[in-house]
Amino acid sequence: MQNTSQSSWGSSLGFLLAAIGSAVGLGNIWGFPYKMGESGGFAFLLIYVLLTVFVGSALLLSELALGRKTLCGPISAYRRLSKRFKWVGIFGVLSSFLILAFYCPLGGYCIRYFCFNVQLLIGVSAQASGAEIFSLVTEQSGASVFFTLVFLAATAAIVLKGVSGGIEKFSTVAMPLLFLSLIALAVRSVTLPGAERGLDFMFSPNLEPLKQNFLEVLATAGGQMFFSLSLGMGTMIAYGAYLDKSQNLQKSAVIIPIADMIIALLAGLAILPAAFALGGEGGLTGPNLLFVTLQDVFYHMGYAGPLFGALFYLLVTVAALTSSISMLEPFVASLSDLRPKLSRAGSVALAAGAAAIPAVIISLDGMGSSGIAKPFGYGWLDFFNLLSEGVIMPVGSLLTALFIGYELGAAPIAQEVELSGRFSFRRIYSISIKYLAPPLLLLILFAQLRDFGII
Ligand code: PHE
Repeated sequence: MQNTSQSSWGSSLGFLLAAIGSAVGLGNIWGFPYKMGESGGFAFLLIYVLLTVFVGSALLLSELALGRKTLCGPISAYRRLSKRFKWVGIFGVLSSFLILAFYCPLGGYCIRYFCFNVQLLIGVSAQASGAEIFSLVTEQSGASVFFTLVFLAATAAIVLKGVSGGIEKFSTVAMPLLFLSLIALAVRSVTLPGAERGLDFMFSPNLEPLKQNFLEVLATAGGQMFFSLSLGMGTMIAYGAYLDKSQNLQKSAVIIPIADMIIALLAGLAILPAAFALGGEGGLTGPNLLFVTLQDVFYHMGYAGPLFGALFYLLVTVAALTSSISMLEPFVASLSDLRPKLSRAGSVALAAGAAAIPAVIISLDGMGSSGIAKPFGYGWLDFFNLLSEGVIMPVGSLLTALFIGYELGAAPIAQEVELSGRFSFRRIYSISIKYLAPPLLLLILFAQLRDFGII
């Protein structure tokens, strides 16, 4: 059962960059800025920060410690430590698998938008509006399937190279690149004439949404927090299993959320002021923001547009890849634990092969534009998103908190943390995981289900 322990991160910075790479993804780029703007600017930010400090980092710390303590992937980690919550790891792996399934088609779209902007740059393609490109891209189902599989194959290739040789190496190059390009884009965006409206949208403190619908803001901020910090799905357990006993877990649980939030804010600065200034027409959230509005923004930038466009879509592809590898890894790690005889290549092929099936269905659905049967009336992508972000992730995190708070106890986690330094937040952690996290997670789950119209 100790297969996972055979590999480890090459360096502390490499681990941090990989974990931040997992956290930073489409959630930061298309989710955070818009949700912040719509749900009250600074007021939303405040709730998000409070939730992250008191619940998110406690859960993150727990997952990292569970991984490092057991040296196992998520499925075996819970099996080893728990009687009542044995099956929670399966929940997590299932969830990261669902997210991977819809991340691949989106990653595939990003690659196509990157190619399109490069073609514009070298003058072999004619300009078109964001909406035109988007409908073309979603209609060409053969190409969608192809690029979905390209993205999945790239994910599998990095994971196949192993933890330090693949995931860590890739993240160490990708994350600084992503950060620098985001800064360049943010500078361009906030210096456009008319950018103030976007800044206002994001930052002006608007307490109305808080007063009128506190539960909804809580659901949005809570859902965003799980998704963005890759919580409740075994990713951080799998990454924790490769950690050296000398890695300071407490510090990591502080640095990762801060970096994730800084990048989300930077992404907001790179995107929303430009969208307001240049008037993209597709809307400010989700796939439309990414594939219609922003392409229009680049269109309106004149000569420099395709250059910024190519840079941007490359950057989103890279951000998506550093996340998708962290969705495949828990599955691969768990397979290796359960079937020690299976080679890493075998585990990766099995996991990626299984993910290819739903990924292809989602890409054939073309964002709900196809005639394929719709589960519960939702497009396939929305359905998978709802299932994972709305239900499985909060339930997974709730079960983790209940397991630690009421079965394992905070002491074994504290012991693990103390192997690498003083655990100065021990008291806050124990209170949070036992008394704060469970009721808050229940409330978030309730609000999410209500938001999605399930109850
Ligand atoms: N955190 C990633 C994002 O913000 C998504 C993710 C979820 C990554 C689950 C890994 C596991 O897009």
